[in-house]
Amino acid sequence: MKKVCVIGTGYVGLVGAAVFADWGNSVVGVDIDEKKIAKIEEGIMPIYEPGLDEVVLRNIKTGKLSFTTSLAEGMKDADMILICVGTPMSDTGAADLSYVWAVAKEIGQNLKKGDKYVVIITKSTVPVGTNERVKQIVREYAEEGVEFDVASNPEFLAEGRALEDMKETDRTVVGTENERALTVLREFYGHLDAPMVECDLRTAEMIKYASNAILATKISFINEIGQLCERAGADVGLVAKGMGYDKRIGRHFLNVSIGYGGSCFPKDVAALYKTSTEEAYDFKLLRSVMEVNDSQMHHFVRKIRKVFGINMEGKKIACLGLAFKADTDDIRDSKAIKIVRELRGHGATVSVYDPQAMENSRRELGDKDITYAEDMYSAVKDVDAVCILTEWGEFKNIDIEKLWRAMGSSKRKFVFDGRNLLDQKKVEAQGFTYFAVGKRTNGYNEFLLEDEEKRGFVTTALLKSQNGKK
Ligand code: UDX
Repeated sequence: MKKVCVIGTGYVGLVGAAVFADWGNSVVGVDIDEKKIAKIEEGIMPIYEPGLDEVVLRNIKTGKLSFTTSLAEGMKDADMILICVGTPMSDTGAADLSYVWAVAKEIGQNLKKGDKYVVIITKSTVPVGTNERVKQIVREYAEEGVEFDVASNPEFLAEGRALEDMKETDRTVVGTENERALTVLREFYGHLDAPMVECDLRTAEMIKYASNAILATKISFINEIGQLCERAGADVGLVAKGMGYDKRIGRHFLNVSIGYGGSCFPKDVAALYKTSTEEAYDFKLLRSVMEVNDSQMHHFVRKIRKVFGINMEGKKIACLGLAFKADTDDIRDSKAIKIVRELRGHGATVSVYDPQAMENSRRELGDKDITYAEDMYSAVKDVDAVCILTEWGEFKNIDIEKLWRAMGSSKRKFVFDGRNLLDQKKVEAQGFTYFAVGKRTNGYNEFLLEDEEKRGFVTTALLKSQNGKK
């Protein structure tokens, strides 16, 4: 069992601290935010993560987990210090590492000669070379003769299933410079039933970025296939299914959407691209991944504009889903929030509902021209159109008939499904004019098909006529 100090109580730090304590280690979580710590100790989590409060409280009770605002206190006698602070995107697209540097400096200042050997481990997502710099900083500020090593141990947890991801990880990646540090990490993670990839610091840092980048690439890829499917008359959902059975491809991360969001993919893809330019290499594929992701949201809004025009004054639109994905209250870089803003910008009155992200959204969007509804059926009351923006299970199971009735007496009722959650046949049979992503629907056929043909995109009709001419 190790004595562990976890710095930062965000997604990675708090989930990590709770899980490491559950494994029997003695863990101290450190955060500069006093109020946040006080709330965590009462069982009020700063993030919505299913099951987290229970694990945190259980370990506080048994004395395995405690919190402090003092780093000096938290790292006293620690075998491992884990850096889990934020690395937000800076204006240049690169990761802002100021929190990492500040923490490294403070760790150094608190390491005294005669302290026991400690491994300083970075879990935050940091660009290649960061751990080397952490080592330099700690060395610069620590007393002469202090014994420590640095290690890179990126995490791969996804929000909403963070606890499972931390406990049942597919792999553990450990980047170290020597056997001594490696032994500590082997002991710490040895009980997990997952392969351990042991490598150098730079490789570990790169594994994290490359993993997120390939997942983002899969999403942009399927979103582009979706664009083509609409125009060519194919169904992207079935295309993904057909592709996914091939084990080399896999079905995961092939769901079309309004574009990926969140605190990781947008930031990490941009940071990796920045690293490539700094290394004098133009990572063209990543550039396209970002471009496609940005345009995906605009394709969606274009469908709404096609129906209502640019001036949407007097139109009422309901947006279901505000979080960047389901099972979280996180709205960081949420495309749903951007779409709400854009619709409001066009003059529409918007009503919104999300099972978890209402409070965060209200803080972000304010109250002007927005109604925050209690549930999804109140959100859609008397609106002209419903947009589905987040893949919550609740929306997937929406009662189509009830939706129809709740929307009141408007002459035509529109549904713009940004996640392809609904059953197209049922929605169209109910009388809705339906738009989805990556497939033809009655709405697409009526409002966009002709348009696309005029713009010269490939369609089955066009292909047929061309073949006929040969
Ligand atoms: C991601 C990685 O999955 C995780 O391994 C890493 O540690 C952090 O970044 P997270 O940001 O929590 O996790 O969410 P994720 O489930 O990966 O979804 C990211 C975004 O992509 C969401 O906006 C989601 O809606 C979108 N997405 C996901 C799609 O549009 N299509 C898909 O097929 C999958």
